[in-house]
Amino acid sequence: MAYTVPKLTDYSERALERAATECLSACLTDANSVRNSADLKVFRDRWLSRKGTVAQIKSAWLEDAPKDARKLVGFWFNATKDRIQQCLKETEDRLVQEVEAALGGNLPDRESVDISLPGVRRPIGAEHPVIKTTNEMVRVFQKLGYSVADGPVVETDYYNFEALNFPPNHPARDTQDTLFIAGQQGKPQRERLLLRTHTSPVQIRTMEKMRPPIRIVIPGTVHRNDPPDASHSPMFHQIEGLAVDTNITFGDLKGTLDHAMKEFFGSSVKTSFRPSFFPFTEPSAEMFVSCFICGGSGRRGEEPCRPCKQTGWIEILGCGMVDPNVFEFVKDNGYDPRKVSGFAFGMGADRIALLKYGVDDLQLFFQGDVRFLGQWA
Ligand code: DAH
Repeated sequence: MAYTVPKLTDYSERALERAATECLSACLTDANSVRNSADLKVFRDRWLSRKGTVAQIKSAWLEDAPKDARKLVGFWFNATKDRIQQCLKETEDRLVQEVEAALGGNLPDRESVDISLPGVRRPIGAEHPVIKTTNEMVRVFQKLGYSVADGPVVETDYYNFEALNFPPNHPARDTQDTLFIAGQQGKPQRERLLLRTHTSPVQIRTMEKMRPPIRIVIPGTVHRNDPPDASHSPMFHQIEGLAVDTNITFGDLKGTLDHAMKEFFGSSVKTSFRPSFFPFTEPSAEMFVSCFICGGSGRRGEEPCRPCKQTGWIEILGCGMVDPNVFEFVKDNGYDPRKVSGFAFGMGADRIALLKYGVDDLQLFFQGDVRFLGQWA
């Protein structure tokens, strides 16, 4: 094919038509000599690639055209380009038909014929960092013999608060913290629906179904009426745990959680328990792990360690011995508070993922930007 794009000097309708016709006839001649998919690729590249003939025409005709001729040149350029694209399409169709004829019949799937064409590349998805963290933590407890339980995100006041020993006027029931489902005022308080503010209601739900002994972990989504910022989100994730048996002690709680943290963060982390309060545990504690970023020193070289606020300790979870008042709600299913005891814990999966991956803004987890999420692929 010996076609070279001519420079235009005459911008009259007749001259443009002639230039376009010459170009098209060269294109058709070229197309006629296409015999296989390799030829087709050469043809496509020659006419329609980034530096192909169509692109050359564009710069040779359009960009040099005097201002008052631009509209007309534009029209002829577009018409030529459309015809060349159509020619490519027709040539592709012709090739497919030739292959079909050679194979003796109409193939059901045209695309599958030419195995030399590159395939469709489907990007592979990846686990979201919060899900990945959750799965890793759940796995640590599964290895200790815990099973996984779950419960509804839309929960009743009864399971979210009442059966967890929250007094009727506890501030956590306040609309400041809890997102209530609208139009529930006609119902008795315990039946009113809300978005669960923690995964703890699944403790009660599971104890209603399963008799002791039980050991469960409960990963799940929870909601609170918090405006989004770098460390808050109205939707977030928790991992809850519950172990009930005869003679479960605070020593079991400490041993289990210390082991789990060493499995998860590495064997060099230490744990520390400080007294706290939760309505559903007595006694209650907050557990800290020694800062796995600065190794507990509170400093990173010359710099102060930010994740642990220079204290060398990072708060990871709330925990405690199940309050006997909670067992009272499921007493009839074998949970007589005089016979069984247990411990429970709850942690924020998003917060742990932030710390683990050194991410400084929680919102990044929920904005769905694949450039961010792709880092875990
Ligand atoms: N539910 C508590 C919260 O969301 C966390 C928690 C604390 C869960 C102590 C527990 C526990 O099971 O024993 O803040």
